Amino acid sequence: MKLNIALLAGDGIGPEVIDQAVKVSDAIAKKFGHEIAWTPALTGAAAIDAVGEPYPDSTHEVCMAADAVLFGAIGHPRYDNDPKAKVRPEQGLLKMRKKLGLFANVRPTFTFPSLIDSSPLKRERIEGTDMIILRELTGGIYFGERGRLDDGNTAFDTCTYTRAEIQRLAKLGFEMAMTRSKRLCCVDKANVLETSRLWRETVQDMEKDYPEVKVSYEFVDAVAMRLVQWPNTYDVMITENLFGDILTDEASVISGSMGLMPSASVGVHTSLYEPIHGSYPQAAGKDIANPLATVLSAAMMFEDAFKLKDEAEAIRTVVNKSLAEGIVTEDLAGKNKAYKTSEVGDWLAKNV
Ligand code: IPM
Ligand code: MN
Repeated sequence: MKLNIALLAGDGIGPEVIDQAVKVSDAIAKKFGHEIAWTPALTGAAAIDAVGEPYPDSTHEVCMAADAVLFGAIGHPRYDNDPKAKVRPEQGLLKMRKKLGLFANVRPTFTFPSLIDSSPLKRERIEGTDMIILRELTGGIYFGERGRLDDGNTAFDTCTYTRAEIQRLAKLGFEMAMTRSKRLCCVDKANVLETSRLWRETVQDMEKDYPEVKVSYEFVDAVAMRLVQWPNTYDVMITENLFGDILTDEASVISGSMGLMPSASVGVHTSLYEPIHGSYPQAAGKDIANPLATVLSAAMMFEDAFKLKDEAEAIRTVVNKSLAEGIVTEDLAGKNKAYKTSEVGDWLAKNV
């Protein structure tokens, strides 16, 4: 099979972790007889530096023409402490999500047997955790009207959702629940917010189309708490953009390191695969970042975008093997030897 993949490395550790995912994917392609054509394109601060724009049209064209997008990370400290910056790397990410119609962000949280004791949570609380948060990605407060009043001292951001936006995300949630334990948790703040009440009403209306799925409705504050108490009681969760942003960061460390969890963003056009972690600027260029989240994102890409399940499984198997044998970066090494980002990538590619 010929695989056409857009490669958006982005900022910070993005290029380093992407390099490892490319090595591993190329090794998989060789083993299974596929041919991958990688097309690199600029995004984030790197794109601002080069062409003044974080998601240039030329990059969008590359993404639209590809079968899948593999993405590193976006963000640069130069912009973080400058609230007056006119262009920001993150705007590129939002523009990309909007233009590619990526309305659903699929963020799994699972545990690795060999890492159970690296989790900040106790073993008995996390054993068996295997959940997916489906975060709405192109609506809500991220994309609502925002601004300052003339006095300069008053600011606002608005959260808007349409029934149709909620339905298309919830539909994915119901379908995903049907392939798993048939439990779906709708997370909102319906005791306060009108948008949340529309979420709840819309999902309740859809229940009749999926009689086998048992839906629970929980408030986001309670979920934030239960996620650290009983993560293994959740299965598929659906939620709006900002709640999903916060809860997925919380969920991502349950496995033991933020550098482990992959994600997929799907919707209208080309799907995108990326690690959950950010650009981790402190580590950029040091060859120390954990590449596994990006490597596992490539596995999600093989499975979802190309329906190549065996290839995806082969990646997951070699990743588990590296963890079991302690071929890990410093975030997981503890007192043992820490391998470099590139060494982990080389080992994985060789052992595929
Ligand atoms: C994420 C990130 C982005 C978001 C930022 C970088 C705009 O935190 O992908 O979760 O808030 O969506
Ligand atoms: Mn986030």
